Formats: sequence, structure tokens, C-alpha cells
Amino acid sequence: MWRRAASLSPLASRSKPSKLCQEACTFKVWESFSSESEIPTPSRVAPYITFVLGGPGSGKGTQCAKMVEAFGFTHVSAGDLLRREIASNSAYGSVILGTIREGKIVPSQVTVQLIQKEMESSDNDKFLIDGFPRSEQNREAFERIIGTEPSVVLFFDCPEQEMVKRVLNRNQINAVGTVDDIFEKVRPIFAALSK
Ligand code: C5P
Ligand code: MG
Repeated sequence: MWRRAASLSPLASRSKPSKLCQEACTFKVWESFSSESEIPTPSRVAPYITFVLGGPGSGKGTQCAKMVEAFGFTHVSAGDLLRREIASNSAYGSVILGTIREGKIVPSQVTVQLIQKEMESSDNDKFLIDGFPRSEQNREAFERIIGTEPSVVLFFDCPEQEMVKRVLNRNQINAVGTVDDIFEKVRPIFAALSK
């Protein structure tokens, strides 16, 4: 099971908050190790998996792009995989489309198999799994099918009002200084993975 490893203070408490920063995200970090080590060390045997959670507009995608660049992760977005499956007109495509249209969660086995295929087709052993798990069934299916737990779980905890504002101004997000501020909080978690 996951254990909370750190909960970082709100950026709002920084001395010079930028315009969108007043209610900006905090984030929480869990790791699944039972050792006393604060920062999990990458294993050469099992893949190093980070689950990245948070609502739309919480900064998941933006921070994932920075983690890919800084630490060489492969970014796997569950939502993107599902949309790609729909676009490919596969047998699962229409079921997935119907489920997403209803605002429901796609059967876990389907999503996990797509994630598994993506991981297996990569030479990398460091993955950011973004937008997953969305449910307890997702988590359980991942552990059963992939046969491992995540090394780290990042949760970008953002007030709803802030997420709405960001989604409505989506292409302004990158212009806001908080992206780098938040990444400076994320970076030490993966210090052991520095290239
Ligand atoms: O994460 P994103 O907003 O791109 O996901 C789009 C949709 O894909 C969700 O609303 C949900 O219906 C589906 N989804 C899912 N299981 C996941 C991730 C996304 O069913 N783990
Ligand atoms: Mg996304």
C-alpha cells in the first residue's frame, strides 16, 4: 500500500506569489516502500513507476513534460491511450468512446492492458503514468496485471476554482511563473534519478 512520504507546503506561502499563485496547487507524495528511506531509489530490476494524479488543470501534463526532460521518464497518459484506441477504430474503441461520453471510468482491464502494451514497447524503465489510477479497481488491476506497485505517487492537489480558471485559460498556463516554482518542489523527489 502507499504511504505518504511528503506533503509540501502551499506555494501560496511563498513570499512573492505570482498572479495565479495565490491558490496554486500543493502536492502530496506517496511512496510504496516500507523502508525508512525518504527518497526511493530506482531499481534495475523492476520498472520505476510514478503515478501522477490530480484534476484537469492541476498541472499534471505540464509537470510530466518537465520530469521527462529532467529525468528521462517516459510519459504515459491513460486518457491519451484511451483516445488513441478510439481513433484506431479497434474492437475496444467504441466501448471506450461510449464510456468516456457517459463520464464513466473505462473497465480497468482495458486501460491497464493499454498501459502494459505501452510500457512493453518502450526500452525505458522509468515511467510516469498520468491520470491513473482513477479508481480502486484501476489500482488493483494494475498491481495484478503489471505485477508491481508504483515507486512514487504524486498528487497535484489544486482548488477547483483554480483548476476551472486554468482550464478556461489553458494556453496561458505556460506563461505563469508557478510552473517552475512547482517543478522545484517536484525535482528533489527524483534526485536519485538525475541524469
Ligand atoms: O485524464 P483524461 O481527462 O484525459 O481522461 C479522459 C477520460 O478517460 C476520463 O474522463 C475517463 O472517462 C477516461 N479515463 C478512464 N480511466 C483512467 C483515465 C481516464 O476511464 N484511468
Ligand atoms: Mg492530461
